[in-house]
Amino acid sequence: MNITLDSLRKMKAGGEKFASLTAYDAAFSHAVSTAGIEVILVGDSLGMVLQGRDSTLPVTIEDMVYHTRCAARGNQGALLMADLPFGSYSTPEQTLENSAALMRAGAQMVKVEGGRWLCKSVELLARNGIPTCVHLGLTPQSVNVFGGFKVQGRDEDAARTMIEDGVLLDQSGAAMLLLECVPSALAQQFTQSVSVPVIGIGAGPDTDGQVLVLHDMLGVTPGRRPRFVKDFMAGQDSIDGAIKAFGEAVRSGQFPAEEHQFSS
Ligand code: KIV
Repeated sequence: MNITLDSLRKMKAGGEKFASLTAYDAAFSHAVSTAGIEVILVGDSLGMVLQGRDSTLPVTIEDMVYHTRCAARGNQGALLMADLPFGSYSTPEQTLENSAALMRAGAQMVKVEGGRWLCKSVELLARNGIPTCVHLGLTPQSVNVFGGFKVQGRDEDAARTMIEDGVLLDQSGAAMLLLECVPSALAQQFTQSVSVPVIGIGAGPDTDGQVLVLHDMLGVTPGRRPRFVKDFMAGQDSIDGAIKAFGEAVRSGQFPAEEHQFSS
């Protein structure tokens, strides 16, 4: 079955959770989609996971087009979303040109990181037939502004601004919103304040969907595992089994558990 934005809207309306994983090539997008994961994210996390960089900043639009094309070839019906990399969406016109390149490569939705300053770009993309997901909270492309990969929205002002940003982006035509590393209570309030589906990573159990970086949940990312990640390979004897276990844990509400969440 092909997953569309409409499928995700219906799932939100019915209180059904959906799952999302990154995939950067045909083999893994095939594995993820055949396991019934609803959304594939060709994330710029590929800079860290595949290219071994310290951050996502060196990733180029050419890298993203290449990996989107590869992932699209293996996809068996999941909704395919691709990231616009650092520096590729500073004006609405640049955003449209680079988003069109990702859509031509096989993306069905693009993702950008930021807040209300993106409203004009979101509107322009919607007018041109390009659905947008806006990533808020810990936006990894701004790691140098944050001074590290830190939980966001812990103080009252930042939390209020994040919810206001979400509402404005929703009104501007964003098709989906994504929250990374924010307290669970904020994510719950945010998800209830907007009409579109919200995906969370390190944002607690109350967002409409959950996303993880595939290599993190398979336990093959070098270094320390972030708090919000669970190793789904543990207890499984295949990658397919681990991916299916993730999908089931999201749908049943077993993931994320208390130990994968942040408080205010
Ligand atoms: O690039 C990526 O993989 C992401 C996820 C962390 C949500 O943006």
